[in-house]
Amino acid sequence: MSDERQRIHPDDVRARLARKSLDVPRDRLRSTREKKDAARNRVPTDATPTQRRPRSRNVEYQAIKGTLHERLIDEMNEQNVLARPDDELESFVNEFVTEILENEEWPLNETERRRLSEDLIEETLGTGPLSVLMGDPAVTDIMVNRYDEVFVERFGQLEATDIRFRDEEHLVRIIQRIASRVGRRIDTSSPMVDARLPDGSRINATLPPVTIDGPTLSIRRFGRRRLTRADLIRLGMFSSQMQRFFELIVVYRKNIIVSGGTGSGKSTLLGAIAEAIPDRERIITIEDAAELLLQQRHVVRMETRASNLEGQGRITQRDLVVNALRMRPDRILMGEVRAGEALDMLQAMNTGHDGSLTTIHANSPRDAFSRLETMVMMAGTELPSRAIREQAVSALDYIIQVRRYEDGVRRVERVAEVVGMEQTTPQLQDIYTFRQTGRDASGISGEHQATGVVPRIAEELSDRGVQIPKQELFGTAFSASSALEDERL
Ligand SMILES: Nc1ncnc2c1ncn2[C@@H]1O[C@H](COP(=O)(O)OP(=O)(O)OP(=O)(O)O)[C@@H](O)[C@H]1O
Ligand SMILES: [Mg+2]
Repeated sequence: MSDERQRIHPDDVRARLARKSLDVPRDRLRSTREKKDAARNRVPTDATPTQRRPRSRNVEYQAIKGTLHERLIDEMNEQNVLARPDDELESFVNEFVTEILENEEWPLNETERRRLSEDLIEETLGTGPLSVLMGDPAVTDIMVNRYDEVFVERFGQLEATDIRFRDEEHLVRIIQRIASRVGRRIDTSSPMVDARLPDGSRINATLPPVTIDGPTLSIRRFGRRRLTRADLIRLGMFSSQMQRFFELIVVYRKNIIVSGGTGSGKSTLLGAIAEAIPDRERIITIEDAAELLLQQRHVVRMETRASNLEGQGRITQRDLVVNALRMRPDRILMGEVRAGEALDMLQAMNTGHDGSLTTIHANSPRDAFSRLETMVMMAGTELPSRAIREQAVSALDYIIQVRRYEDGVRRVERVAEVVGMEQTTPQLQDIYTFRQTGRDASGISGEHQATGVVPRIAEELSDRGVQIPKQELFGTAFSASSALEDERL
């Protein structure tokens, strides 16, 4: 595995960033050298005020900041200041931001302008040697295993980098800086922290003794651009046939759970299928660290809170579900069920709040049920396990299992419909599966196929007078036609 990983030198990263800047439309951001001309022109981003809608403000802000951050890194690279001490870097960033803001007519209000410079300083300086990686939009994950061992994930592939911290102490200082800027503390007495950066990226840091070989830091990059349904089809995560099915079950308010291992693409898939939620519905999202970015109009985002330094003020996902139910939601989207809130979610789903979506850490649809059962027990309920299972079976309609395959590609492994209970066992039937046909150096080959089973929603909809193209959605036509082709050859 390790020999497959390419080693990257920071200079390569910088060179790539410099090259990449050529792709950034110049009219979206002019260099400081062009500032005089720019002063008179409005910036024709796709976020001009005429097209601005309140709900896309944050997306718009993130887009401007992203472009600016890339340009800043380029500028720092050109002027060779990246290796300078922090205070010099800070004044460089300050100057850059002030100049840009003075000379560009960004569609930003005063608060956003102030936030912009703070965020950029934070992103560029707050992460020390990692700022080069933070400025690369292709990097989705940064993993610091040791002060001198930094990995990144780009396009689904893990790569080693030559970026390193001076020593352990340097890494700890950066970790503490990141944590303290988002109001959290990490030290030997509380050696783990999970938090969200101002741009929405999620960080986790640990210190010895919990990580034996030294401090670690993991950053899940976020806020650049969400992977859309179209992206995921292109990346082979699911087929367009499956996408049409996902749309159907989302629009017709089925309760869906996306199940998979760590980093398998659960949250990404949840965000993508949620695109199909109609604009008129009021959505409440509940997350531990808010990462879902929805484009709909009525979205209320809720996030849990850790207890403060005195051990008070903790707000859990359970608290948030209970509160969300009083907010007249049409839909509740929970980032991930991890513990007792599973009970509240199942109860909500069973009492008319259908169309709920969530994710769970599990290895198979069946495993998802046993995990749910364990989680419900964590809520301290006295319910016997059979009753819990019955609740889960009646609450859930579909389980979408995702997996990061050995070739690094994240795929939907199967889509299962929950059909009922037999004795004490939940009954599931597969509607789609990924059928692997081979494996070579370039990756895994295979295709997503309908199993031929027509799910119950088809019948349910035709009873309601809604016609759906059954053959197109559930027919095994695709594989049948390729079989025909094979024969002809
Ligand atoms: N189909 C895909 N192709 C390429 N990259 C993907 C795909 N799906 C997700 N990713 C990327 O993989 C990373 C992990 O995705 P995501 O956060 O959705 O996983 P997760 O299962 O929710 O992880 P966690 O267990 O940490 O909650 C992200 O950086 C995301 O952008
Ligand atoms: Mg997730």
